[in-house]
Amino acid sequence: MLICRCEEVTEEEIRQTVRDGAVTVDEVKRRTRAGMGLCQGHTCSRLIARIIAEETGKSLDEIPIPRVRPPVRPVSIRLLGTL
Ligand code: FES
Repeated sequence: MLICRCEEVTEEEIRQTVRDGAVTVDEVKRRTRAGMGLCQGHTCSRLIARIIAEETGKSLDEIPIPRVRPPVRPVSIRLLGTL
C-alpha cells in the first residue's frame, strides 16, 4: 500500500526503515523521501507517524509531526524589481 503518493513510498518501505532505526517522521523522510513530494507531507506525515508508533510501541502523541512548509520556488530578480 502506498503511504506517500507523491514520492511513491510504500508502507513496507516505511516499516523496514523504522526497523532499521528511524524513530521520527523526519528520519523516515530523509531515508525514503516520504514527505518530500508536492504536498510536502501534508497527506502522509500522520500516516508515517502512526506506522512509527505501531513499530516502536510508542503512543502517537510521542511521535512529533514536522511542520508542513510550502515548497520554495525560484523567483527572478526582475520580478522582484517590479514589486
Ligand atoms: S503524500 Fe507524501 S509528500 Fe505528498
